[in-house]
Amino acid sequence: ALISMRQLLDHAAEHGYGVPAFNVNNQEQMRAIMEAADKTNSPVIVQGSAGARKYAGAPFIRHMILAAVEEWPHIPVVMHQDHGTSPGVCQRSIQLGFSSVMMDGSLMEDGKTPSSYEYNVDVTRRTVEMAHAGGVSVEGELGVLGSLETGEAGEEDGIGAVGKLSHDQLLTDPEEAADFVKKTGVDALAIACGTSHGAYKFTRPPTGDILAINRIKEIHARIPNTHLVMHGSSSVPQEWLAVINEFGGEIPETYGVPVEQIVEGIKHGVRKVNIDTDLRLAATGAIRRHLAHNPANFDPRKYLAEATKAMTEICVARYEAFGTAGHA
Ligand code: G3H
Ligand code: 13P
Ligand code: NA
Ligand code: ZN
Repeated sequence: ALISMRQLLDHAAEHGYGVPAFNVNNQEQMRAIMEAADKTNSPVIVQGSAGARKYAGAPFIRHMILAAVEEWPHIPVVMHQDHGTSPGVCQRSIQLGFSSVMMDGSLMEDGKTPSSYEYNVDVTRRTVEMAHAGGVSVEGELGVLGSLETGEAGEEDGIGAVGKLSHDQLLTDPEEAADFVKKTGVDALAIACGTSHGAYKFTRPPTGDILAINRIKEIHARIPNTHLVMHGSSSVPQEWLAVINEFGGEIPETYGVPVEQIVEGIKHGVRKVNIDTDLRLAATGAIRRHLAHNPANFDPRKYLAEATKAMTEICVARYEAFGTAGHA
């Protein structure tokens, strides 16, 4: 059944687990997420980005998620719109039947330029008013996502506009978070705590303090009823990088957020954990390997099935590690 994000994350908070939110662009990702959820008895958050709508079209994204609900009626599914760039974008998703939307007012409508605090409050508050009237949940974002190691914003987060950032600029301020929640009424808040989007988060194997766990604790203490969201939560599996590079890929050395650190974040109030890159890497590795081993194959179903299997394994591992398993 389709449920709202508020319903699911309230349950997650009550029982102390986190929920991975996987990006979905095609049928293979959708099946992988659902097969993993079915295997582990996990509730699901799937999210469609602007890029996904551009690639597949909003009707296909919507019907793919509805098809999953039909095929796995016993699994609760949140249909979430990722990184909305304006109240208008969110309104169109709500009209399409999304049960949850993200209004990312931390960036201007171009999705690149960091915005003012006042702008963020204004667009987010307007989105909450509109969404809550129809029982739809809203995620906001406060802060500039960027790596605490490199001081660089991730892909699409203020590229060029921000340059090198100081440690302090890369962490959401707890007092501002409290004011933001009071003024907007968001159900969930994406915070900056050391993660960044994409595959290039850290240049060296990350150590124990690469996430600002203390900051997560401080924010959670100030807004205990608002669910914290961690974007840029891919772990960038080294085994899949190796497979990609073994079979013709050229991905330079890079590291993601260790699963154990995400689990630590979940202990301190993180409830929604956004993952896209890990499924992209697994799919690419599996397809490269299949084609290298089967040079005569030209049936896409054969290599896409390998991609689905590889993505399913990642999803199962995240549902188990985050404590989502068993809560469908
Ligand atoms: O936040 C970004 C997600 O990974 C979606 O990426 O905009 O390329 O679809 P995308
Ligand atoms: P990754 O690039 O780390 O997978 O993050 C995805 C994300 O935050 C989508 O909103
Ligand atoms: Na941001
Ligand atoms: Zn994101």
